[in-house]
Amino acid sequence: RERINIAIDGPAGAGKSTVARKVAEQLGYVYIDTGAMYRAVTLSALRSGIDPLDGPEIASHAASLDIRLLPGEQGQRVLLNGEDVTEEIRSREVTQNVSQVAANGAVRRLLAEKQRRLADRKGVVMDGRDIGSHVLPDAELKVFLTASASERALRRYREIGDAQGVSLEQLEREIEERDRMDRERDVSPLVCASDAVVMDSTAMTIEEVCSAIVSLSRTKL
Ligand code: C5P
Repeated sequence: RERINIAIDGPAGAGKSTVARKVAEQLGYVYIDTGAMYRAVTLSALRSGIDPLDGPEIASHAASLDIRLLPGEQGQRVLLNGEDVTEEIRSREVTQNVSQVAANGAVRRLLAEKQRRLADRKGVVMDGRDIGSHVLPDAELKVFLTASASERALRRYREIGDAQGVSLEQLEREIEERDRMDRERDVSPLVCASDAVVMDSTAMTIEEVCSAIVSLSRTKL
């Protein structure tokens, strides 16, 4: 086998996207951030004044969108109907509404279908919440990346706290609330797949996590 698919799931702020991007770089694979797709749907719905809890409206809105992930110099870019929304999808407003949108079964089916197509020729590192458990159940390597809640909040705080004017305590509450919604939803919730390797990154550096995953990937070739 020349190439495999790698699924990286876990709660918010565990370092999934940084790790997935670097692992993809090291292996010459394509990095796919599935959270960005849910965020793009959420941004678009908010702009159109649609209530994230209005299931049917959200579903038909999502179906009308053209969402693309493009590899770029500084990592993946996200295009929403041709517009680059890479930065805008990280706003607090989107972050606070995305889990409601992601609980919508029709939206999940639509995006999971897109995600499977992106992976069908192998050689992807895909990060999200349900990749190993639902989107790519046959992924050759599945990693469930965790870290303590306070460490995850601290990492997020260093990333965005100053820029968006939020306190560490506030961020910790928001992360816990988002995780709770992601774990408790009915449709493909955040769970650790039975065949996933669990890595607790609380006391590990990004480099340590990456090299552990790259080594594991070599055993699957
Ligand atoms: O990974 P990120 O934090 O950007 O994901 C944003 C949100 O998108 C998550 O909190 C979750 O609600 C949703 N999501 C999901 N399934 C995925 C990826 C993200 O439900 N595979």
